Amino acid sequence: MKVPMLDLVAEHAPYRAELVTAFEKVLDSGRFVLGPEVEAFEQEIGEWIGVPHAVGVSNGSDALLLALQAVGVGPGDEVICPTFTFFATAGAVARLGGVPVFVDSAECCYNLRADQVAAKISPKTKAIIAVHLFGQCADMDPILAAAKKRNIPVIEDAAQALGAKDKGRMAGTMGTLGCFSFFPTKNLGAMGEGGLVTTKDADLAEKVRKLRVHGAKVKYFHEMIGGNFRLHELQAAFLRVKLKYLDSALKRRNQNAKRLIQLLQDKWSAIMPVESCVCQGQGEVESEKPGTCLLPFSCHSGAGEHTWNQFVIRVTGEGQRDDLREKLSAKGVQTEIYYPRAMHEQDCFSGKKSDSFPMAEALSWETLALPLRIPL
Ligand SMILES: Cc1ncc(COP(=O)(O)O)c(C=O)c1O
Repeated sequence: MKVPMLDLVAEHAPYRAELVTAFEKVLDSGRFVLGPEVEAFEQEIGEWIGVPHAVGVSNGSDALLLALQAVGVGPGDEVICPTFTFFATAGAVARLGGVPVFVDSAECCYNLRADQVAAKISPKTKAIIAVHLFGQCADMDPILAAAKKRNIPVIEDAAQALGAKDKGRMAGTMGTLGCFSFFPTKNLGAMGEGGLVTTKDADLAEKVRKLRVHGAKVKYFHEMIGGNFRLHELQAAFLRVKLKYLDSALKRRNQNAKRLIQLLQDKWSAIMPVESCVCQGQGEVESEKPGTCLLPFSCHSGAGEHTWNQFVIRVTGEGQRDDLREKLSAKGVQTEIYYPRAMHEQDCFSGKKSDSFPMAEALSWETLALPLRIPL
């Protein structure tokens, strides 16, 4: 039996005809970039998220770049972000000449540690990026509180977490700006690339809209230096179809996650990594016996608040994760490693090695994403 991480052909099958109709509509309109489909999508997704301004952009990486640029991040500015994340988080900071200041991950949900965010705020801190990793929100309250004291904008990297909540609040509505990705593996995937910036602030939304088209509100009259970060009509049309099915897809994934947790407890004696949330500071770290399977832990997210973009287990002990991966592969079960190297260890950020990030490093050796988007 083959178990893929993701089978998009099968996922799209129930609404294939609607996708084809959407394609034909755009084809026949002759309008392919920033048109009525993008406008309608921005309206619909904004309502779904519950945010007044939603700006469709080229992809999630550019969404981060635009959000950082909108709050004024430039050369030499420090931006606090987790080291255990996808490259785009820290990459966007560096693309603007900023300096990513890394924090370690919490042992519970693997999101950034709120206590370290507060500790690393300096006079040079221009923004904080809270990443909602694997579909679960970071612990936003202490991060927002620390930022508020110094009036520092918080950008939510919600690329993996469309639909996730923290104490009832939707990802992308809690910080100054929210950034989403519509890469095909994400909760809402385009048939290509796409992204979104959300905000409650009308001025910031207007700024992002300008930056999206080379900094011009009126064509050929440039108020600032932006770029080409436009969302395509075809992608918006596809995303509008898929948005109608997002609630049921998230519900199904939540059910799958519960069943997989039960299965791993029964068959592999898997255990939870901690007894309670430690996002606000690490307690005593207990080392488990090598080969222990640690389950994903929904620490501060209540029922249904985790969107399970990835189902990530931890297998303790040197080489144990890789052994398990090989065994599963031999049985036809595809897995993925998110992420094999933390940002502070990347060659391009090698100057940032001075701090220690023991949790992030352990996660990069021990975590393994299992397939979840399948009927179990
Ligand atoms: C946490 C995170 N941030 C940003 C991005 C970038 O999104 P995109 O691939 O659409 O550029 C991703 C995509 O994998 C991501 O996982």
